Amino acid sequence: MATYQKLFDKSIENPEEFWAEAAQSIDWYKKWDTVLDSSKPPFYRWFKGAEMNTCYNAVDRHVENGCGDQDAIIYDSPVTDTVRKITYSQLRDQVAALAGAIKAQGAEKGDTVIIYMPMIPEALVAMLACARLGVVHSVVFGGFAANELAIRIDHARPKMIICASGAIEGKKTLAYKPLIDSAIDQSDHKPEKTIVFQREFVTADLNRVGDLDWQQITEDAQPADCVVVAATDPLYILYTSGTTGMPKGVMRDNGGHAVALNWTMKNIYNVEPGDVYWAASDVGWVVGHSYIVYAPLLYGCTTVVYEGKPIGTPDAGAFWRVISQHKVKVMFTAPTAFRAIKKEDPDGTLLKQYDLSDYEALFLAGERLDPDTYHWAKKLLNVPVIDHWWQTETAWAIVGNPMGIEQFPVKPGSPTKPVPGYDVRVVDDAGKELGPNQEGNIVVKLPLPPGTLVTLWRNDDRFVSSYMSTFPGYYETSDGGYIDEDGYVFVMGRIDDVINIAGHRLSTGAMEEVIATHIHVAECAVFGTHDSLKGQQPLGLVVLKSGVECDEEELKIELVQMIRGKIGPIACYRETAVVSRLPKTRSGKILRGTMRSIAVGKEYRMPSTIDDPTCLDEITEDLKKMGYPEG
Ligand code: COA
Ligand code: AMP
Repeated sequence: MATYQKLFDKSIENPEEFWAEAAQSIDWYKKWDTVLDSSKPPFYRWFKGAEMNTCYNAVDRHVENGCGDQDAIIYDSPVTDTVRKITYSQLRDQVAALAGAIKAQGAEKGDTVIIYMPMIPEALVAMLACARLGVVHSVVFGGFAANELAIRIDHARPKMIICASGAIEGKKTLAYKPLIDSAIDQSDHKPEKTIVFQREFVTADLNRVGDLDWQQITEDAQPADCVVVAATDPLYILYTSGTTGMPKGVMRDNGGHAVALNWTMKNIYNVEPGDVYWAASDVGWVVGHSYIVYAPLLYGCTTVVYEGKPIGTPDAGAFWRVISQHKVKVMFTAPTAFRAIKKEDPDGTLLKQYDLSDYEALFLAGERLDPDTYHWAKKLLNVPVIDHWWQTETAWAIVGNPMGIEQFPVKPGSPTKPVPGYDVRVVDDAGKELGPNQEGNIVVKLPLPPGTLVTLWRNDDRFVSSYMSTFPGYYETSDGGYIDEDGYVFVMGRIDDVINIAGHRLSTGAMEEVIATHIHVAECAVFGTHDSLKGQQPLGLVVLKSGVECDEEELKIELVQMIRGKIGPIACYRETAVVSRLPKTRSGKILRGTMRSIAVGKEYRMPSTIDDPTCLDEITEDLKKMGYPEG
């Protein structure tokens, strides 16, 4: 029997033995009493009774094993014209110093800390320093506005915030401190301290009570050692978009996370300790947490921290320059980045300037990999181009082509097969399993493997209602798709109100909540339409309050400003149409899915519950006037 099938079957039939073997690669202070505690489904806990420290496994143990002089981080920042290398010994010292400073400022095991930082090594140092102390970090992506940060502050209740004075985003210089101050002013919970890493090009005023200078407090600090934590203790909370304005705080534990991520480096990505691994993402997203920080460091690779864009910093050859200069073996990014490069340099002429002889594979995730982008990247790079499907909730790939186990022929449009650990099925709305090529809801039979979400932070009920109740015994992914006759999974997209813009996950519900607060708006609907660069972009349809007459162009500009101000520029909200009414069911539910189908030119069935079918004709006309569906 083929290796993959053997491993996969074992992972499903005997998950405890499978993951206990994988756990041998992690250093434990105390081994587990139970590999998998299934006593309270759907709350499963891996490695119960074990004790360890994630930072120790990601940093200190490599120094102790003689790899202290190996680069842990290569910081490559075209926007500040910097390349800086940090060895594992240096990283340990920097992390221990910051951990000492955090401890001296009063944060201890079990406390929470919010991190708001750009792509600089100090972001990793801050995350690892928290892990070192058993402090639970929550990193917030820099593209979110103060209001979104405030929502997370109120929910995570951090003891302190760790931030940088600012960032360079493409060609713009952004000051972070005013944004942090504004978020704290807006939140009910007030963090006691704000630790600021000052960057040369923007100096933050440290004039509020509790403001601290990173450089100063780490200089004075007594380095802190790793604290013993339970494998089941939380490592981090990562907020991700749900269907409403209140994001979901995905909670990750320490032990299962370390075991699973470490396992993926060989089995999925086929790298060895010492290799240079580059995830061109951001620490604010799950890809950044897992594949810029934890997995490559746990496994003893060198991770590249890239502060730049695929294009414009300075050109569409930036990725090839980084791969060549740092001898990157495996690179991971979102398909959008490749679409952006293709648009600027369709023939790949810039690639010819660089030697990519050490480069072995391209991994893509974050959104559907369209066959055009797949073929373009494959032809250009002449290395395996591997699509893999996962979610913030899972922290690692659910479906992929496991390069370190067995390389399957690629079927463009499919991320290939379920990764060992994930028993993937497709079911209809009633939960009945569907046969090959029948499209439905993609679900994963419980238990989920280690490393996946344990619960939602301070919200067990939402964890159960969002993921575990629609199909009892299964995790609901909220993605639709099918499995073909060869076992290849095809992921067709979200079936809830979450959209994917440039590989970034955003909530249309959150955008609707903002638009609904405009004084002239009676009701609204936001849904995702097709975008040839970013995959999807949001479109808002608004109905004005009766009797209101306003300048529609002005209204549209105001709505864009409101979304940028409340959610952030990353929402990429640009298009609004004023319509006379929205199609609804007889019980008043807006038919967003049907409108989305019309806008992208997908066939749809007239909903039997529709209140007034003529309303759909009107919307079809309105969308047509706006140029939908494209082409
Ligand atoms: N901090 C502050 N603002 C940010 C930001 C950050 N970290 N990241 C993005 N933004 C802003 C951008 O400046 C832009 O603002 P603007 O409307 O004022 O111009 C807005 O948010 C939208 O950003 P983005 O969608 O990234 O568009 P872009 O035109 O700047 O870049 C791409 C387009 C394709 C180059 C870019 O989206 C990209 O590199 N995508 C790769 C995807 C990726 O890394 N995904 C991570 C998951 S794997
Ligand atoms: P996030 O939680 O931000 O990682 O977004 C997860 C969502 O992105 C998934 O639910 C999918 O809708 C989408 N996604 C991620 N990777 C892929 C992929 N390889 N193919 C199709 N969709 C993907």
